[in-house]
Amino acid sequence: MSEIPGHIAIVMDGNGRWAEKHGKSRLQGHDAGMKAMKEIVKHSSVLGVEYLTVYAFSTENWKRSAAEVSGIFKLLVKYVDQELNELHENDVVVNVIGDYHSLPAAAVAALERSLTKTAGNTGLHFNIALNYGSRAEICRAIRSISVAVREGELAEDEITESVVSDFLYTANIPEPDLVIRTSGEKRLSNFLLWQSAYSEFVFTDVLWPDFSPAEYERCIEEYSRRSRRFGGR
Ligand code: IPE
Ligand code: IPE
Ligand code: MG
Repeated sequence: MSEIPGHIAIVMDGNGRWAEKHGKSRLQGHDAGMKAMKEIVKHSSVLGVEYLTVYAFSTENWKRSAAEVSGIFKLLVKYVDQELNELHENDVVVNVIGDYHSLPAAAVAALERSLTKTAGNTGLHFNIALNYGSRAEICRAIRSISVAVREGELAEDEITESVVSDFLYTANIPEPDLVIRTSGEKRLSNFLLWQSAYSEFVFTDVLWPDFSPAEYERCIEEYSRRSRRFGGR
């Protein structure tokens, strides 16, 4: 098959429209989205992707109804409970980016169980972006860097691009090679702004619950036809 990107990031969008199309509730759409995510995680391991980052809940998604927000986190707990053993058997390392400590307690506990259980694994790095927004991430980095400068641990002229990267949630994670967004929307919606400076973007009209391993491979194929120059010739 085509060249497999080392790091794929996905904006999993379109659960609500999928639900509407099938006469279901938005939460049934999110449930179907969790099932799609499960398959894509498995297929990422099969393909030999090293890092998969999924956008599951943004800092702006709190604007939705309380019922939808709490329903999404309940589905997340259900997913973790059902899948953790299998993720672990498949050697997956689970990681969370974003301020997940302000999620409901049951979700925080489920996430921490998965981080602890899979910490020693060596397979696919599966990063879940939860209560994640790039602007909040960058503000947080600036605050930490300011403290380091004030405490004399860092000089101003030592603030390089690589130092900034080290203060982001994604420190130790390579930049995404490919960013996929489903559902036909063509925007980042505050996802990995700094990290995707030289990523390739593939947009597909498929709604996230319908995003299959075959469609995933088609996106990777599209990526493998791109010519990445990084500003060089
Ligand atoms: C993506 O699907 C999941 C989250 C943002 C949590 P949406 O819920 O945004 O689905 P649409 O965009 O309304 O179809
Ligand atoms: C982006 O989708 C966030 C996630 C997929 C988690 P949204 O549906 O929230 O984005 P907008 O509102 O269409 O930009
Ligand atoms: Mg959406």
